[in-house]
Amino acid sequence: MELNTYSFLFLFLIFLSYPSQDIGTDQSQFFTLMKSSLSGNALSDWDILGGKSYCNFTGISCNDRGHVEKINMSGWSVSGNFPADICSYLPELRVLDLSQNQLGGNFINSIANCSFSEELNMKRIHLRAKLLDFSKMKSLRALDISYNLFIGDFC
Ligand SMILES: *[C@@H]1O[C@H](CO)[C@@H](O)[C@H](O)[C@H]1NC(C)=O
Ligand SMILES: *[C@@H]1O[C@H](CO)[C@@H](O)[C@H](O)[C@H]1NC(C)=O
Ligand SMILES: *[C@@H]1O[C@H](CO)[C@@H](O)[C@H](O)[C@H]1NC(C)=O
Repeated sequence: MELNTYSFLFLFLIFLSYPSQDIGTDQSQFFTLMKSSLSGNALSDWDILGGKSYCNFTGISCNDRGHVEKINMSGWSVSGNFPADICSYLPELRVLDLSQNQLGGNFINSIANCSFSEELNMKRIHLRAKLLDFSKMKSLRALDISYNLFIGDFC
């Protein structure tokens, strides 16, 4: 009986240790995607290949487990298509401030999948899109989507 409990615990710990490695890879992949699809001088600090951890990139904060929890690129004058599926790459993202840039792309729908996000600022990003369904964003407590062109109803 006792042995079973221990082997179960052991397997469980192995199970727990695997995803975090994948998450590290996924996280750096997202910054590679951002860097390849957006342009702007401000991103030059994001030295993906130079061996600097993305946790030390300008505008990025990580929690103590190395998971990205905040991206603030407010006013960076960056333009291009923001990559989709941000929260499958950065599952612990809580704050996303994209305000005052020129962003397009389909990312807006996938942002609605960020169930842990607490703060979302997309003010003045020159977006033309259908208004997204915020109902899955259970943790959201601050939202600014002003100065964009949205079509549709709030849900
Ligand atoms: C971030 O930079 C500091 C010093 O500049 C360094 O001590 C730290 O290890 C770096 N963090 C990561 C995650 O690379
Ligand atoms: C992002 O940075 C700007 C200054 O560059 C600051 O005014 C703003 O409050 C920050 N946003 C968040 C969500 O911390
Ligand atoms: C949201 O997440 C679900 C499950 O992970 C996925 O099937 C769906 O395509 C995502 N929606 C968007 C708009 O990314």
